[in-house]
Amino acid sequence: MKVLILGANSDVAEALASLLAQKKHELFLAGRSEEKLSALKNDLEIRFECKAHNLHFDALDFDSHEQFYNSLPEKPDWVICAFGLLFEQDQAEDNLKLAMQSYKVNFLGAVSIIDIIAKDFATRKSGVIVGISSVAGDRGRGSNYAYGSAKAGFSAYLSGLRNKLNTYGVHVLTVKPGFIKTKMTDHLKLPKLLTATPEQVARKIEKAIRRKCNVIYVKWFWRYIMIVIKLIPEPIFKKLSL
Ligand SMILES: NC(=O)c1ccc[n+]([C@@H]2O[C@H](COP(=O)([O-])OP(=O)(O)OC[C@H]3O[C@@H](n4cnc5c(N)ncnc54)[C@H](OP(=O)(O)O)[C@@H]3O)[C@@H](O)[C@H]2O)c1
Repeated sequence: MKVLILGANSDVAEALASLLAQKKHELFLAGRSEEKLSALKNDLEIRFECKAHNLHFDALDFDSHEQFYNSLPEKPDWVICAFGLLFEQDQAEDNLKLAMQSYKVNFLGAVSIIDIIAKDFATRKSGVIVGISSVAGDRGRGSNYAYGSAKAGFSAYLSGLRNKLNTYGVHVLTVKPGFIKTKMTDHLKLPKLLTATPEQVARKIEKAIRRKCNVIYVKWFWRYIMIVIKLIPEPIFKKLSL
């Protein structure tokens, strides 16, 4: 398959790219840093003898998205939307520009490019769209709502898209990781048991594509943790320090 990875230099995307390269998929690696993309492409080609291409993509440059997709050398069969941005909630509250950046990258940037791809997939009546959202989007919490609300919007968008594209034969997969040990969370002390590695997330995504899953949680028990969190009545929830 031809796979377009948006935000290809994310740690999760790099692990997924390795897994897909191993399985001889052809990769279109899109991101902001040409230097990092070239290093990834060379590494994948040497290790797996796969076909890989680099493409410049900035989620915040909404006006470029149509041109970006139209100028792809070949249209992808699968697209993985992996980019994302996390700031500490305090930082986002102190600096509204940072908060806006979170909303723009995590929600608007994602839907801006996926809308364009979805139209093409619907016309072709095939394709797989994978959006990496987050458990943070399942319920807004005081400690990360600038990030969580953008991911909530993204999860709702993917749900709507799945509903819309079902009759067109397009598979939409929502990925909801809990904690992942990546550069995004380097500054945090994460509970080991609840934390996945990028490689675990990559394996889960690859398997979920093959099984045509709709929504997956990584690790699996996050689904049940979030059920409990969502069940807490709002009058109690608002008093908790979460
Ligand atoms: N880590 C976690 O605990 C966790 C938990 C739940 C969900 N997630 C989600 O999982 C996905 C992968 O995250 P990760 O942990 O692998 O994070 P990561 O290693 O920090 O990667 C994030 C990537 O997003 C890219 N990005 C940021 N702004 C961009 C923009 N304007 N245009 C294009 N790319 C942009 C960054 O590109 P540069 O390399 O150019 O900076 C970076 O490669 C994200 O959607 C994240 O929200 C992560």
